[in-house]
Amino acid sequence: MFTVRLSDDGRAVEILDQTLLPNVIKYLRLETADDIYEAIFSLRVRGAPAIGVAAGFAMYVLAQKLPDDEAFLERLRLTGEYLCSSRPTAVNLSYAVCRMIATADANAELPYEQRLSVLKKECMAIYNEDRAMCRAISENGLTLVKSGDGILTHCNAGALAATEYGTGLGTLLLGKEQGYDFKVYSDETRPLLQGARLTSFELNHAGIDVTLICDNAASLLMKQGKINACFVGCDRVAANGDVANKIGTRSVAINAKYHNIPFYVFCPSSTIDFDCKNGDDITIEERSGDEIKNMFFKKPMAENEVKCYNPAFDVTDAELVTAIITEKGIARYPYTKSLAELFGKD
Ligand code: MRU
Repeated sequence: MFTVRLSDDGRAVEILDQTLLPNVIKYLRLETADDIYEAIFSLRVRGAPAIGVAAGFAMYVLAQKLPDDEAFLERLRLTGEYLCSSRPTAVNLSYAVCRMIATADANAELPYEQRLSVLKKECMAIYNEDRAMCRAISENGLTLVKSGDGILTHCNAGALAATEYGTGLGTLLLGKEQGYDFKVYSDETRPLLQGARLTSFELNHAGIDVTLICDNAASLLMKQGKINACFVGCDRVAANGDVANKIGTRSVAINAKYHNIPFYVFCPSSTIDFDCKNGDDITIEERSGDEIKNMFFKKPMAENEVKCYNPAFDVTDAELVTAIITEKGIARYPYTKSLAELFGKD
């Protein structure tokens, strides 16, 4: 199974359609900007790193459709802007798009075919870097836990949200390969149930002991002593360590603090936005109320005229985060200093 890849002919982005999981395994071939926009918007491909990798491939696929004239770079920029408007919170999307545009810009003098070949190399680099980052994050995460630990997860931060190991679940998957036994409790993660549909699916298939719980059961399990650590991914981390992640993450962090349980955020460098000073600078995606009222159940869960408010993410205050685990090492509070030191920022 793969989450996202460039097709063999280099003309399409191929993805696993995650909206159909866990019941149907179906791959899609995306060839146009509209196909790719729709797949990201509808969460067919989702999870911050996976969206970034898909966007990198998309920029190469779409660059090949542009005529070789003086407007090439401007057209590529507009394509990038369109893709970036599909989802606002995960910074990996604009990170990958900007990287592809900067590469095209730096090689603007090259003949058309050579320019395309540099763009292909760049999107493959984004993909391969993500694999390497996920592996390094997973190794760093293993230093924080021991076999037998009970781990609470929220949303999905595994291979389906990135490449290979993923971020938040990578430590569990790598640990399993190395003989660790974890007891994982997966928040179902309303409204789109990524925890139920994706995390429990991934961990179950990896042979990891996983138990699905309702989001609102987490605090009880903490009180019962079943949770030794909380593991989450992230969609954008501000320079001060405020963390945007799937709605509900902040409640998990507050509960964890109350129960004195470490709350760990797993984060590739492509998800840190040093241009965001703090969480107030992060745009929170708001999605349709239909996700709350009309999805996944046979009958509507609320009357049609009932108002809904459906933010897809929240921001967890840096003070609630025990550590941010990156491919370069583990950062601890205060994050303005520790993240800047890890990544060589002034
Ligand atoms: O709306 P989604 O499914 O794209 O949200 C994903 C999350 O919030 C993940 O936890 C996050 O992207 C981290 S993925 C490694």
